[in-house]
Amino acid sequence: MFKRVLVANRGEIAVRIIRALHELNIEAVAIYSEGDENSLHTQIADYAIRIGPAFSKDSYLNIKSIISAAEVSGADAIHPGYGFLAENEEFAKIVEECGFKFIGPSPESIKLMGDKIEAKRVMKEAGVPVIPGTEEAISNIKEGLKFAKEVGFPVIIKAAAGGGGKGMRIVRNEEDFEKQFKIAQIEAEKAFGDNRVYIEKFLEKPRHIEVQVLGDSYGNVIHLFERESSIQRRHQKLIEEAPSPALDEETRKKLTEAAVKGAKAIKYQNAGTMEFLYSDGKFYFMEMNTRIQVEHPVTEEITHIDIVKQQILIAAGEKLNIKQKEINKIGHAIEIRINAEDPEKNFRPSPGKIEVLHLPGGPGIRIDTHIYQGYVIPPYYDSLIAKMIAWGRTREEAIKRLNRAINETLIKPIKTTLSLHKKIINNRRFIEGELHTKFLEEMGIGD
Ligand SMILES: Nc1ncnc2c1ncn2[C@@H]1O[C@H](COP(=O)(O)OP(=O)(O)O)[C@@H](O)[C@H]1O
Ligand SMILES: [Mg+2]
Repeated sequence: MFKRVLVANRGEIAVRIIRALHELNIEAVAIYSEGDENSLHTQIADYAIRIGPAFSKDSYLNIKSIISAAEVSGADAIHPGYGFLAENEEFAKIVEECGFKFIGPSPESIKLMGDKIEAKRVMKEAGVPVIPGTEEAISNIKEGLKFAKEVGFPVIIKAAAGGGGKGMRIVRNEEDFEKQFKIAQIEAEKAFGDNRVYIEKFLEKPRHIEVQVLGDSYGNVIHLFERESSIQRRHQKLIEEAPSPALDEETRKKLTEAAVKGAKAIKYQNAGTMEFLYSDGKFYFMEMNTRIQVEHPVTEEITHIDIVKQQILIAAGEKLNIKQKEINKIGHAIEIRINAEDPEKNFRPSPGKIEVLHLPGGPGIRIDTHIYQGYVIPPYYDSLIAKMIAWGRTREEAIKRLNRAINETLIKPIKTTLSLHKKIINNRRFIEGELHTKFLEEMGIGD
């Protein structure tokens, strides 16, 4: 087992990983930028090393600095968290070449799944249903238009290297195609340094349902059931829950089996998420995320399995110590992402000092956060400041607890998305579990 692990991240996920390390009696090395001097992860880790200026490219994305920090601290392994370098195959490779264990999948898996066109091709070959679409990158407008007409409008043009809800254009008719196609290519190049795009059938109001998988280095793959992440703004998740209220047991079985089959086909190691869209009773593979996800706690709450600890054990070469038939799901969990943004002012970021903070507790409430009273939210990073997760024996009880917990919370004077969450979870359709990816747009909270 590892003795000391470097956490190559910040914010709530760095705190989450350090917690898992400490429970496994492993020392944690935090890295931080000049903008994060007072962040909680630097204080709860056993060692903290400043690696560079506030801007991510000079610090959390600076591979040389991170490797140096691992060397001077005597770490045996590096956990990348999510975002930053978590899905950078080059980083995973360098980490291993420098003699550290990378707590994540192999560079090959990262590369394969990071190319969303290849990922779909491989999954289709493995017998996993995929969203109808081009099987290769399309660079020629004429060819693209021909394909779009074949599958029928509306279509969605997506960046092959896309992520974070970026690089997607919906096209509803032929006239619009050329313009949107050009924009998609330019956006893809700008955001991901790769202008390759592909085209998919655009599904109207699907549900986003994903399966958590775990694979070890002995070829064992298990699933921890599904999560639903249909409540999105600009293709980015805001609320997630487990299990999905949309699935009956038969569909759940088919979906989770398909996910395991897909993960086995690529000999997947570590924790991963197979993302699907679900529409008219059918599910279609969309992409795979080869890292721990923001919304992993809802799965932990219903299965009582610590996914981050599992990642560490798997990377240390241990065999999965849980059998599929031993995994049960109990009750229902819902997570809201609390962002330091003003929902009244087009989600403008709201950094600054937290003067007053009271976070809720009580039965069934879990908070994953790096904030504390007096903490100054820096303006340089994404605006997620806390995740509030409610567990209940039923979905109804989870919603009730979430409401109660939101009412107990004080975060002043920072503007947060809490007020928006309150509106959503008290919406009749939400309560009835009638979710889809255009839910917020229909509530008038789209852009
Ligand atoms: N073919 C599609 N039809 C309808 N919505 C889609 C389609 N592809 C993507 N989306 C929307 O975009 C979201 C993110 O898609 P995804 O491919 O996972 O991108 P990212 O890599 O940014 O996470 C989905 O959850 C869904 O809301
Ligand atoms: Mg996705």
